[in-house]
Amino acid sequence: MASFRLLPSAFCLLLAAVLLIVTAACTLASPGQPKWNDASVSRSRWGTDPVFTPARSSFGQAFREFLGRRPTDVAQPFPFSHQIHLSKGATCTDCHTGVEQGPRAGLPSINTCMICHSQIATDRPLIQQITRMQEEGRDLNWNRVYNYFPESHVRFEHAPHIRAKVECSTCHGAQIEQTVARRAVDMDMQFCVNCHKNNKPQASNDCLTCHY
Ligand code: HEC
Ligand code: HEC
Ligand code: HEC
Ligand code: HEC
Ligand code: HEC
Repeated sequence: MASFRLLPSAFCLLLAAVLLIVTAACTLASPGQPKWNDASVSRSRWGTDPVFTPARSSFGQAFREFLGRRPTDVAQPFPFSHQIHLSKGATCTDCHTGVEQGPRAGLPSINTCMICHSQIATDRPLIQQITRMQEEGRDLNWNRVYNYFPESHVRFEHAPHIRAKVECSTCHGAQIEQTVARRAVDMDMQFCVNCHKNNKPQASNDCLTCHY
């Protein structure tokens, strides 16, 4: 992408306009595609498309991935607020129970919510809504905010970072200022490698530390 910046700005504008139209056309032309970050859809079920590359389901998808475009704001099935919970003294591990033990932090199921909300704020409509959902055996299917394209083959582990006292906010921004999580930090390879190199003691920058 760096080479784009070297082009004269008028040409860049023209290029940007063309890219925008192509992307818009592709988005319109491929309705109902699963989102790139829909964890429930494995890549093999995306079908193939002879256009551009057989690994992507559509030209639009391939194009967005080629530009490395990921949404900052992700729609969620329920208006959850980090700010309310953190300002009332909840801690990350109340809901992200795996973060100190293993690779994944984990997203809370409705049963985790109800550990508190079977007692707390039971008179509020939103709490009554999740109470009913639990009774009907339904769960909240959160959409993922931070994750890598499977093609990048990135392997990440939370536990060693928490043990090394890296703050959540270094990688995820200030959660207390957010309702549902936003993609506040762009964790590209440079971001990971720089800290591994500058950390004392150094953390490994062997390719296989972070890739499979
Ligand atoms: C060194 C950077 C780093 C730190 C520190 C960090 N995270 Fe993460 N977190 C990531 C990355 C990278 C991903 C995406 C991993 C993936 O999709 O493979 C992620 C994903 C997540 C997810 C969703 C996926 C999952 O793992 O279940 C949650 C929730 C999360 N982090 C919470 C936290 C919390 C809470 C803390 C602090 C206790 C924390 N993170 C600290 C980098 C970090
Ligand atoms: C550790 C306990 C705890 C857990 C776990 C928890 N909450 Fe809460 N929640 C609270 C507290 C405390 C409040 C603030 C209540 C108040 O305003 O007095 C709150 C408030 C809320 C509110 C705002 C209610 C309103 O309309 O004012 C919603 C919505 C909510 N929680 C949803 C959830 C969901 C969804 C989950 C699971 C993902 C969850 N909570 C998990 C403790 C918790
Ligand atoms: C009361 C429960 C609760 C607490 C406490 C909580 N979270 Fe969350 N967190 C959630 C829920 C629910 C989601 C899924 C909705 C969303 O993306 O915001 C989530 C999502 C996230 C995500 C996005 C994960 C992904 O990749 O999809 C990150 C990052 C995160 N939380 C970090 C934190 C950090 C850091 C803290 C502590 C400072 C924290 N959370 C405290 C419930 C909680
Ligand atoms: C702010 C500093 C920092 C950032 C940013 C960071 N790391 Fe780390 N990482 C560390 C430290 C410190 C360790 C612990 C080394 C140890 O336990 O000896 C570590 C350990 C790891 C390990 C475990 C290595 C092992 O030998 O078990 C993996 C995997 C890893 N990091 C991947 C990543 C990835 C992928 C990213 C980017 C998303 C990232 N890290 C970002 C500081 C960081
Ligand atoms: C500390 C962690 C870390 C180390 C070490 C690391 N990478 Fe990466 N690498 C990443 C992350 C994270 C991404 C994903 C960036 C993104 O998708 O935004 C990435 C992306 C890549 C990509 C682009 C993949 C794609 O499809 O976009 C290549 C190629 C790559 N790394 C090669 C390497 C090689 C070769 C080495 C060893 C010299 C290496 N990486 C070492 C973390 C690391």
